[in-house]
Amino acid sequence: MEQYVIKGGIPLVGEVEIAGAKNAALPIISAAIMTDEVVTLENLPDVNDINVLLEAIEGIGARVDRIDRHTVKINGSTIQDCSVEYECIKKIRASYYLLGALLGKYNNAEVPLPGGCNIGSRPIDQHLKGFRAIGAQVSIEHGTIIAKCDHMVGAHIFMDIVSVGATINIMMAASRAQGRTIIENAAKEPHVVDVANFLNSMGADIKGAGTDVIRIKGVSSFHGCNYMIVPDMIEAGTYMMAAAATKGDVIIKNVIPKHLEAITAKLLEIGCEVEESDDSVRVVAAKRLNRTHVKTQPYPGFPTDMQPQMSVVLALAAGTSIVTESIFENRFKYVDELTRMGANIKVEGNTAIIDGVPNFTGARISSPDLRAGAALVIAGLEADGFTVIDDIVYIQRGYEDFEGKLRGLGAEIERVTSEREIDKFELRIG
Ligand code: UD1
Repeated sequence: MEQYVIKGGIPLVGEVEIAGAKNAALPIISAAIMTDEVVTLENLPDVNDINVLLEAIEGIGARVDRIDRHTVKINGSTIQDCSVEYECIKKIRASYYLLGALLGKYNNAEVPLPGGCNIGSRPIDQHLKGFRAIGAQVSIEHGTIIAKCDHMVGAHIFMDIVSVGATINIMMAASRAQGRTIIENAAKEPHVVDVANFLNSMGADIKGAGTDVIRIKGVSSFHGCNYMIVPDMIEAGTYMMAAAATKGDVIIKNVIPKHLEAITAKLLEIGCEVEESDDSVRVVAAKRLNRTHVKTQPYPGFPTDMQPQMSVVLALAAGTSIVTESIFENRFKYVDELTRMGANIKVEGNTAIIDGVPNFTGARISSPDLRAGAALVIAGLEADGFTVIDDIVYIQRGYEDFEGKLRGLGAEIERVTSEREIDKFELRIG
């Protein structure tokens, strides 16, 4: 089992380059199989979730050629099977995007119910409601979702809740239905826009992505294209929080500052300096930061995927902060671990009451999920002494070369697999 060992207490300083957005790349890889021509995708992050999905599409017959670490060519003309194997896909939640893609292309999809991070109950009723609205018969048999139809017909769909996954999935399938589909109460996240832009590059006719009404005119076929994935706003936000927590000075490059506005606003509010340029942001935290309140919301609100990292920063700020998680109910699992490092946090329902402490102390802790894991790494970077984090496999699902990029900012962090390696690290760093 791989672990991180960290010697904390060093302010992060320097520049870090952000990779492509995992949560855009996952649906885009799925959608790429919807044409029989070659699609070239650039700026793919090299993270486990992406590699698992690429293997899954190979598993149903698509051809995947790796051009370099961040570029693949995908050819969906060789797909023979609309049924995805459970073993290929059980680890990633975004497997559900293959439903929309296969249904859109072949009118037939069989995909095991998704796994992914355990951050609360994660129903997919809105996805299925959308597929049914455009004419698919959907059933769940032996843990697999089966969606089929003779042909799909556009429909007017009102989403009961704002869902990133459902919006994207319905958009993919409906872009090949006959006639017009309107999705109301759609999610507005930058990756929804990125997927719409990608589908349009393949010949789809989608308007309004980024607003809460998306209008889709179905087309009968897609063609190949070259596409570059948008930068990952959550990876960027994570480094912004790491700079803030360690009282550092970090320039985060290859970002779209507009996507980071909710995060930037909170950092400014608590006393950080944030300088924006065209494609980078610089975060400087010269002194102890102040308390604030945060509530997670769909975009453009404060992202749920940044809640644990923000809470770590607030756990070090002066005063009492209240963090309300309104998207997923099980997103405070890192709090017990953080308490072991000296944080003072009380969770009541979907709210965390955080009394800031001046600093953390290193401890042996465990990563409960992807974003919480990243947040605990940030805590370790700030803490006095050594921190060892177990279960970093979660973190590797979504952060490319996390330890390498942090080392580039001056952090003392290493990926290890044994007690001996931990001892060696501690001896070396002292
Ligand atoms: C995506 C992201 C995840 C992020 C989340 C919210 C991916 C792979 N994951 O997850 O990192 O935290 O958006 O920004 O892109 N819901 C239903 N029924 C549904 C679908 C969702 O009730 O059919 C609920 C969920 O339980 C949750 C809320 O809607 O409470 C939002 O979920 P959703 O936006 O769909 O999240 P995901 O697409 O799963």
